[in-house]
Amino acid sequence: MAFKVTPWEVSGKVDYEKLRREFGAELIDEKIKNKIEKNSGKLPLFLRRNFFYSHRDLELILKDYEEGKDFFLYTGRGPSGEMHIGHLTPLIFTKWLQEVFNVNLYIQITDDEKFLVKKKNLKEIEKYAEDNIRDIAALGFNPDKTFIFRDTEFIKNSYNLILKTSKLINFSSVKGVFGFTNQSNVGLIFFPSYQIIPTFFEKKRCLIPAAIDQDPYWRIQRDIAERLGYYKASVIHSKFFPSLTGITGKMSASKQETTIYLSDDKETVKKKIIKYAFSGGQSTIEEHRKKGGNPAIDVAFQWLNILFEEDDKKINRIREEYKKGEMLTGELKTILIEKINEFLEEHNKKKEKVEKIVEKLKYSGKLAREMWNKTIY
Ligand code: TYM
Repeated sequence: MAFKVTPWEVSGKVDYEKLRREFGAELIDEKIKNKIEKNSGKLPLFLRRNFFYSHRDLELILKDYEEGKDFFLYTGRGPSGEMHIGHLTPLIFTKWLQEVFNVNLYIQITDDEKFLVKKKNLKEIEKYAEDNIRDIAALGFNPDKTFIFRDTEFIKNSYNLILKTSKLINFSSVKGVFGFTNQSNVGLIFFPSYQIIPTFFEKKRCLIPAAIDQDPYWRIQRDIAERLGYYKASVIHSKFFPSLTGITGKMSASKQETTIYLSDDKETVKKKIIKYAFSGGQSTIEEHRKKGGNPAIDVAFQWLNILFEEDDKKINRIREEYKKGEMLTGELKTILIEKINEFLEEHNKKKEKVEKIVEKLKYSGKLAREMWNKTIY
């Protein structure tokens, strides 16, 4: 089946192995996992369960680190609406990386990009940007080593570097990588220069955790970085957190019924999971008991496996019981509903009390102050 992956559209059943090979990225194999584990202690579930599965130049980051050289992290969010749980996966993994390696982190909020792509006005986008920043801040990044910025706000400090970068990118290369046409607006054609420049915020290697849809930007970055005197970016790619309705495409904020938003209340979560979560179970209980379910296509199982069930023994037990038909779809969904609601309750409690941290991450923490105090060339 055909599939398509661009930063603005994911459709069809993604063949991740094929995509990785087409993009020319490396598999995160046991060797590299062992290396990470040596520095970090126990690997997080995202690596143990191969949700982050592909990379570019991750060995170089680890090599630098082992030689006592620092690196920095960079990730981001395009604030086109409320955040859903899929958006959290790169951020949660980034938080783990920051804690383990104790490094600086830049989080770009591309309000400009989303204004250019979506049929929304700047005020609406600004509202989402500020709300998304509160969600991100609630995850608990180190306030002195993290800088969150909105593109439209930080532009006065960053425009010189954007210009230098844009001068090295020609239309035919972005056209090839992003699929621009004669109808594409020129704002969007220019925009990749801005998403690239945070990789140049320090004269160190930069590691970017993101889903694989963002890779086109990094390919351009890697073409031009050395000409500007910087390192080629290192990247660690995740698969997509699947939508509720099935393992095709990705969880997408534009389709209500495929998505759990961070703001969904308990009843809504329950209703959505029961009604929409695609089941790998059989159509009757009798048949299910006899033939068992298929966890590989079951969305509730996938969500537990990717994000919500940390305990390896428990997830293996659930997989086996479901496969044998001992566990029913309804029981599996109940486990997931409880986990999600617990997670969202915690998250939203933290989000309510996040104002001071937001202020630090944006303006007054150590790294934020440094960034606002310089014009970047
Ligand atoms: P955005 O807002 O589309 O997505 C934010 C981050 O979430 C990832 N993502 C997903 N991950 C797992 N499952 C999904 N269903 C899913 N949908 C989206 C994206 O890959 C991304 O990591 N242009 C970017 C913002 C940006 C950025 C960056 C992202 C600016 N600089 C650096 C990553 C790294 C955007 O619109 O992301």
